[in-house]
This record gives sequence, structure tokens and C-alpha cells, in this order.
Amino acid sequence: MKIRKILTEPDPFLRQVSHEVTKVDDTIRELMDDMLETMYAAPGIGLAAIQVGVPKRVIVIDLSREEKKTPLYFVNPKIIIKSKNISTYEEGCLSVPGQFAEIDRPDQCHITYLDYNGQKKELKAEGLLATCIQHEMDHLEGILFIDYLSKLKKNFIVKKLSKQKKVLERIVV
Ligand code: NI
Repeated sequence: MKIRKILTEPDPFLRQVSHEVTKVDDTIRELMDDMLETMYAAPGIGLAAIQVGVPKRVIVIDLSREEKKTPLYFVNPKIIIKSKNISTYEEGCLSVPGQFAEIDRPDQCHITYLDYNGQKKELKAEGLLATCIQHEMDHLEGILFIDYLSKLKKNFIVKKLSKQKKVLERIVV
């Protein structure tokens, strides 16, 4: 397992639509292992493959902030049903470092996906997990949580991140 570099906004790569995985093989499992390691190190509770520069429909999530890890792996996730009820969480994103905003999303979602072994699974998620799944699935479409904010707020954040990036690049030799 190795830690991969997380791309940050503004990076045009994050705006790509990710491709379906045709087969869950060892290459995909290695990707998932690396993503999990990268996510734990960050630290974060969810990561999509596009965030480490791989445009494939792969997501890892672990909501347990304890010693005992409970990783979840989702390949080619599809939402079948979303609830009408909305819940609001303050969201952040490893690709939008240091920025947080309250985002409204359906409070439940029913999804199908392939697991770590390529087995077809179904899951009815609610609460934080439902929000996290939807946030990560947005990444697969090239969508970031800041896209739900007003143009003014979003531009402010993107400008700030661009400036931070320039400073970082300047000191990298
Ligand atoms: Ni994110």
C-alpha cells in the first residue's frame, strides 16, 4: 500500500467524468488499498479515485474514527432511490483543503455497487454515510461540494486555493 498524491482544486482533472470499471481485478484492489491508505493519512472519511488522478468509478469510505477500521469499498456505485427528506451536514473535501460549507442532500440513498471482491451488493444508507456516498459519487461526475454554493462564495474559495497553490509551488524545488 502506498500513499498517493491528492489533487486539489483548481485542477481540471477533478472535473473529469470517471469511467466504469470493467472488472474488479488486482489492479483495482491495489488502487483501493492505496486510496484507503491515502485517506487515512490525510486524514479523511471518504475518497474517490479521481482525487488521486485515476478517472475510474471507485470510492473508499471509513466513518469509524476509532482504532478498529471499518473500510467500505464501492466500485461502479449507482443510486437507485434517493429520499425526499433532506439533511444538512457541514462538508469538507480533501481536494478542497481547509474549506467547509453546509450542504443539503437527500438523507437516505439506496445504492448498488461492486465490493472489494467484485460481488454485486446493495446498500440502504442514511445519515452521515448517505451524505458521504453522495459527496463521493459527485466526484465521479466531476462535481465538488463548492459547486452547490453561490457563485460568489465558490469564486472566493477557488481564488483562495489558487493563491495557496502558487505559494506552495514557489517553495517546491
Ligand atoms: Ni471530496
